[in-house]
Amino acid sequence: MTTINEEHAAAVGHAFLERPLAEVDPEIAGAIRLETERQNDTLELIASENHVSKAVLTAMGSVFTNKYAEGYPGKRYYGGCGPTDIVENIAIERAKELFGAEHANVQPHSGSQANMSVYFAMLKPGDTIMGMDLSHGGHLTHGHPLSYSGRDFKVVAYHVRQEEELIDYDEMERLAEEHKPRMIVCGASAYSRIIDFKRIREIADKAGSLMMADIAHIAGLVVTGNHPSPVPYADFVTTTTHKTLRGPRAGLVLCKEQYAKDLDRSLFPGVQGGPLVHIIAAKAVAFREALSPAFKEYQTQVVRNAKALAAAVADTGFRVVSGGTDNHLFMTDVFSKGITGKDGQNILEAANITVNKNTIPFDTQKPMTASGLRIGTPAVTTRGLREPEMKTIANLIARVLDARGDGDVTQQVKREVKELCDRFPIY
Ligand SMILES: Cc1ncc(COP(=O)(O)O)c(C=O)c1O
Repeated sequence: MTTINEEHAAAVGHAFLERPLAEVDPEIAGAIRLETERQNDTLELIASENHVSKAVLTAMGSVFTNKYAEGYPGKRYYGGCGPTDIVENIAIERAKELFGAEHANVQPHSGSQANMSVYFAMLKPGDTIMGMDLSHGGHLTHGHPLSYSGRDFKVVAYHVRQEEELIDYDEMERLAEEHKPRMIVCGASAYSRIIDFKRIREIADKAGSLMMADIAHIAGLVVTGNHPSPVPYADFVTTTTHKTLRGPRAGLVLCKEQYAKDLDRSLFPGVQGGPLVHIIAAKAVAFREALSPAFKEYQTQVVRNAKALAAAVADTGFRVVSGGTDNHLFMTDVFSKGITGKDGQNILEAANITVNKNTIPFDTQKPMTASGLRIGTPAVTTRGLREPEMKTIANLIARVLDARGDGDVTQQVKREVKELCDRFPIY
């Protein structure tokens, strides 16, 4: 038993700094334990998630969380930024090397803020942007009315063609000629095919538009040559760092040198305040990991696994949007068997298989219900699963969905998921 005096001393003195989390806050420590167990025991198929290394976790949990560092290396508004400058300069140099970019800003707290910093650097309210329709695979920040991007700018959306569910570049070109957007935004959250950045540059040039490529999903594939890079073509490239790139939850912007000053000023002080230095440290670690040959092997396996899983899911009778995948994800039209995306997500979650419901192109269901599931392989590939396991996973998915979540089938599938997860431990 500690006395009140001892507790007081612990609260104000040095001892306060040393107390373990489980003692300071058992509720949060318990939730972290639960989440660790959940991740270990779950087949994580959410396409935008991954499992970071302990090295990345360590950097994120470091004392850099204590530091204020408004500004940029060598030009800070706060003292004591020596070690911070080391971290940020390393992160910048590694990002430039990784992507072959002229300029990198590593401060965005998220993908949405990365995009905002580009828009606010180059656009005025009321300017026209062109982005991919959300329900066809785009992202909220590419011009959806509920996002700042749809509220502050005039938006012209392009789509996929209904027949083959591939981006309709002819429509994009027609719309660009007609509306002369100030910026064409490409990149997607739910599109499984190669994006033709060269063609989009040509369309942008003809229309006199700037080009921004948001590669939040495919960044890991891009840096390892598993997807063509937009860097030679786009004026701006934005990404998150936590999806295929397997770093901390955050963003990154790359651009041509000519836009560097405008971009940096737009991000800070335009969009954000002080940078999250601990997260920048973790980004630097992730970039170092991404520069290694092992990361290339990993990304190649991510794509192989996605192809294998899409084919195996199709073999079980569920329609796969566009017939397959070239990247790390695909959409399956579960409504083709009369199950909504919402129900499909819940049925799978009960068996410890995590996916997200997703609209499919020309969906007949509302977004909160949706006809599809988005399925991705970055996280399961991190824990070591390969093509044979993809067949097993497709089979588990089909069994529990076809049984409409029947209790006995769910329990059996959950046991098999656990056995599979136990063979490939994470943390
Ligand atoms: C293409 C794309 N851009 C931007 C974002 C936004 O990233 P964040 O959630 O970090 O704001 C996402 C996230 O899902 C995305 O898929």
